[in-house]
Amino acid sequence: MIDQAKLLREKVTQKKAKKDKRPTRVIAVTSGKGGVGKSNFALNFALSLVQQNKKVLIFDVDLGFANIDVLLGRSPQESIATMIEKDLSIWDIIEEGPNGLQFISGGTGFDEMFRLDEAKMTKFFDELSQIQGHVDYIILDTGAGLSYENLRFILAADDVILVTTPEPTSITDAYSVVKMVHAKDENVHIKLVINQCTSDKEGTQTAENFKKVTEQFLNKQIGTLGYIPSDAQVPSAVKKQVPFTLAYPNGQASKAMQTLSCNYLELPVPYKLGLKGFLLKMLFK
Ligand SMILES: Nc1ncnc2c1ncn2[C@@H]1O[C@H](COP(=O)(O)OP(=O)(O)O)[C@@H](O)[C@H]1O
Ligand SMILES: [Mg+2]
Repeated sequence: MIDQAKLLREKVTQKKAKKDKRPTRVIAVTSGKGGVGKSNFALNFALSLVQQNKKVLIFDVDLGFANIDVLLGRSPQESIATMIEKDLSIWDIIEEGPNGLQFISGGTGFDEMFRLDEAKMTKFFDELSQIQGHVDYIILDTGAGLSYENLRFILAADDVILVTTPEPTSITDAYSVVKMVHAKDENVHIKLVINQCTSDKEGTQTAENFKKVTEQFLNKQIGTLGYIPSDAQVPSAVKKQVPFTLAYPNGQASKAMQTLSCNYLELPVPYKLGLKGFLLKMLFK
């Protein structure tokens, strides 16, 4: 076990050295409660970054409720699960979405893979590490809540975007995520997105209250990335199976997403290990 882990660590490090064309940052998009708009956010945030000339790969790791493919109107044949089953390479399973957005689905049985089989896990990390340098961002659409796998993805990512709506149920569940993550690692960067706001004021107030509470009770500072209004064009785009930023580029939600992704790109980038660090943390934490 130790030998295999050591070998893997060396492999990941060597790959990074060889292909260090550009840093690849890993962003985990998560939420406390389900149904807050996390997948719609992750997909459209990814597309907004693509619009700003970034290369982005979205990786659907919402193990129970994977639906990035549905939002894109696609039904990919391959996934991480089939990559391992059929011994495919990572390049065989990456799908090309709109505007060159790349995406991968986890597939059925993806979660059990990590718990049970070390050889499968080695294959997963080996293949994933090849993406280093090929994209600027890997965006993980994680499941809602605090499963073991979710927590692992969150703790390993460079940035965590926590999506909540202004509803108290969504807020309290989001707070539980911050509390749990903070208890495991105080240095995780969490950025808040308030989705489905009825007004800008509601968005700002929700974020301010949330931040006050985490500061007061957890002594944890978190950032605010932005607000997305409640917009009937979002469910309408979901029905069309076209991401809302593409179906309604001039709509309210799309404009807010544009502002938000600009804000993200303007943030200072603290030194992080990117994909290499992500894989190492997933393996050894
Ligand atoms: N900003 C928004 N305005 C209106 N409806 C939204 C918005 N964001 C998400 N929704 C709706 O909320 C539902 C859940 O969205 P989804 O992205 O699947 O959530 P999650 O991934 O958190 O479960 C969808 O029906 C979607 O249309
Ligand atoms: Mg989802």
